Amino acid sequence: MKPADWLDRWKQNRIGFHEPGVNTYLRQYLPAFNLEPGDTIFLPLCGKAHDIAWLAQQGFQVVGVELSGIAIEAFFSEQGLHYLQSESGKFLLRKSGNISLYQGDYFDFPQEVLTECKLIYDRASLIAFDLGDRGRYCEYLRSITPPQTDMLLITLDYDQTQMDGPPFAVSRTEVEQLYRSHYQLEELVSNDVLDERPRWRERGLTALTETVFRLRETKHQ
Ligand SMILES: C[S@@+](CC[C@H](N)C(=O)[O-])C[C@H]1O[C@@H](n2cnc3c(N)ncnc32)[C@H](O)[C@@H]1O
Repeated sequence: MKPADWLDRWKQNRIGFHEPGVNTYLRQYLPAFNLEPGDTIFLPLCGKAHDIAWLAQQGFQVVGVELSGIAIEAFFSEQGLHYLQSESGKFLLRKSGNISLYQGDYFDFPQEVLTECKLIYDRASLIAFDLGDRGRYCEYLRSITPPQTDMLLITLDYDQTQMDGPPFAVSRTEVEQLYRSHYQLEELVSNDVLDERPRWRERGLTALTETVFRLRETKHQ
């Protein structure tokens, strides 16, 4: 998937990844991170997730980056929020209260915006990249977030020969390979979710596992 492919998906409203409500795991596991109101949470590749608004309602500063202006405008309009728009380097920033959404390419996102970041929330971001780009995604993430930034990570795993991504299959072993040199990994829960996604069964999948990880940074160089 190239940036243009994602932009087309939004234009054509092919956004099967978008959840109709707040992510259940986010509600369940956020308290485990012991954040304080006012702390900053970063959502790379944020789409128009309801999670953004929910996190803001909990009192956090929410920073998201997303390629598609359609997605960001839809987010504010669907949440009934007015925003102010300004240019910020290579990005178009739309801001409403404690929500700041940057339109542009994640790989250009500036470190300065995240100096106070306490948590990365990755739902359907790592798994949006194919194998060739996932390492680059993780390295860049670490380069723009401060030391001791924890992460709540949600992945999907399935037999990649049965279906093309995105979402791409990411195994626990791969998560370990990508992150273990700098993070301590804890698997919070792992569920077989194929029954909840019958469309994917029709596309040929025989198993689909969703796994939630808590990552705590151990080293930052
Ligand atoms: C699978 S969706 C996940 C969206 C969101 N995290 C959610 O849970 O609904 C991936 C999103 O990343 C955006 N995206 C893809 N590549 C990007 C990039 N290089 N920079 C910024 N956003 C990107 C796409 O437009 C899409 O909205």
